[in-house]
Amino acid sequence: MPHKNTYHFEFEVYDGIENLTEEDAWLLQEAREVTEHAYAPYSNFQVGAAARLMNGEIVAGTNQENASFPVGLCAERVLLATAASVFPKVPIHTMAISYHNNNGESNHPISPCGVCRQSLLEYEQRVKLPIRLILGGLEGKVYVIPQASMLLPLSFTSEDLV
Ligand code: THU
Repeated sequence: MPHKNTYHFEFEVYDGIENLTEEDAWLLQEAREVTEHAYAPYSNFQVGAAARLMNGEIVAGTNQENASFPVGLCAERVLLATAASVFPKVPIHTMAISYHNNNGESNHPISPCGVCRQSLLEYEQRVKLPIRLILGGLEGKVYVIPQASMLLPLSFTSEDLV
């Protein structure tokens, strides 16, 4: 019989932004507002991310699409690239992610896509500290995930390359 491994992780579920700490609510509100800077004329799905760095600075990112669709970038990776360029080596304490579409529907949390999970994982490894995630729409429940890499079990990492 094979040995069975299990993977499980826990995250917090809040009924709404009003149940978060003041700091977390502020960051999620930033993510909500920065969706206005998204460039998403093709999907009409505007994503905003805002992060508090360990040095207290705030960095934002939004999705940036392109007529050549695969060229488009997600908000999370725009944020990571910005943080690494403006504040190199400073760990990210918490990243909040929000969104809305043209139908005004934004009532549940969205999670980072698979590609962004891979990028978030490597950022954590680079700076040796976990990235806490706050996921929420313009309204509705909010998820708080203690560590981005929890979203990517059995991941491929730089250690596999050696
Ligand atoms: N998108 C993000 O920016 N972040 C996510 O977590 C999910 C998807 C973007 C990519 C594309 O511009 C649009 O949302 C629709 O997929």
